[in-house]
Amino acid sequence: MATAVYPGTFDPVTHGHLDILRRATQVFSHVVVATTEVPQKQCLFTLEERLAQLLQAVEGLPNVEVQSFSGMLVDFVRSIGASVIIRGLRETTDFEYEFQMALMNKRIAPEIETVFFVTALDYLYLSSSLVTDIALRGGDISAFVPTFVEDAIMQKLGKG
Ligand code: COA
Repeated sequence: MATAVYPGTFDPVTHGHLDILRRATQVFSHVVVATTEVPQKQCLFTLEERLAQLLQAVEGLPNVEVQSFSGMLVDFVRSIGASVIIRGLRETTDFEYEFQMALMNKRIAPEIETVFFVTALDYLYLSSSLVTDIALRGGDISAFVPTFVEDAIMQKLGKG
């Protein structure tokens, strides 16, 4: 079975991401979770912090590895001998962006397939920036992220 790469900013990783990841491990023999700098985004956590959080989040998940990359995603996928990119789909608004990215990646690297997992209903409206915003306003985020991520957000926001 193929090695798949699950890329994202993961700023921070949420239960929505982890749900996709768990399901991906049931389909692919080896899944590499890959994070990177995304210049268009103003991240709450540094790349090193996001990497450390991902490492902790995937503990106990079989056949999962965490890596960071720079440059093009398809170059990274090729460099590790993988052939699949995994993306999660939530509402229809994700579709346009994901469709564009998948087609562009296909244009650059025709041998790499993008495979979409539809989000679990519980995580339909979840996003990393929403979680951070809720935390910033004093809301309860415990249902959306692992406890250690919740603690890291609180600390980062000076609410620890
Ligand atoms: N559950 C909950 N939230 C989810 C989710 C899920 N299953 N899937 C996505 N999200 C959220 C994320 O939390 C994030 O929320 P935010 O915008 O509030 O922070 C948002 O959806 C999208 O994030 P993510 O999945 O991390 O994707 P991204 O758009 O940030 O990452 C890369 C995009 C890193 C994959 C892309 O920019 C990339 O490939 N970069 C490398 C450069 C490159 O190759 N560019 C050419 C691409 S064609």
